[in-house]
Amino acid sequence: MPELYVSKHPLVQHKITLLRDKKTEPRKFRELVSEITALLTYEATADLATSDKQVETPMGTAQGKEVTHNIGLVPILRAGLGMVDGIWDLMPDAQVWHIGLYRDEESLQPVQYYNKLPTAPTVGVCLVLDPMLATGGSAAATIGILKDWGVKQIRYVGILGAPEGVEHLAQEHPEVPVHLGALDERLNEIGYIVPGLGDAGDRQFGTG
Ligand code: PRP
Ligand code: URA
Repeated sequence: MPELYVSKHPLVQHKITLLRDKKTEPRKFRELVSEITALLTYEATADLATSDKQVETPMGTAQGKEVTHNIGLVPILRAGLGMVDGIWDLMPDAQVWHIGLYRDEESLQPVQYYNKLPTAPTVGVCLVLDPMLATGGSAAATIGILKDWGVKQIRYVGILGAPEGVEHLAQEHPEVPVHLGALDERLNEIGYIVPGLGDAGDRQFGTG
């Protein structure tokens, strides 16, 4: 099994309940995606490597720390896009590398349509961002792309997951930690998470 972390934070649970509500409008939905992602990222980065750093305060010398690795955020288009801003508030220097995938509605297999990664990796740690881990096909394909790129440390940050998606990542990428806001019951017959929140891309972008 991968390391699976499902947040128990009351603020995450409160905000996910609002996010699920079918009455929540796109503007509020986007705000919640951003806030929940920031809270999940705080938890998902608790063990990032640091090195010692000394700074001069107005009162003297402080022995501090700085994060060692360059961090890359990899939102899976489209729905992962809304997860970037919440993390940029915490890590303004994080690089963002977009991967475009959509899920074929019949086969439920991911289809890649955008990837502009340069030849050599420019980051040491990547956070793969997608609100929905359903069959896990999109997440597994993206993690595979990042491994081929040469990234050494990859973490997945999602808002809702289905057991099927967690199991898929366990089979293909067992060393990648999976951070979720909630683990739902199951997938329905068309591959949607139940109870879930519907289509995360449509609800963010007002296209449903
Ligand atoms: C959704 C979601 C994930 C994927 C999850 O994207 O944002 O990327 O489905 O499903 P999976 O785990 O079964 O692969 P979608 O294909 O609807 O594209 P969109 O983000 O452009 O709406
Ligand atoms: N993609 C979504 O947006 N929602 C789901 O429930 C599954 C895949």
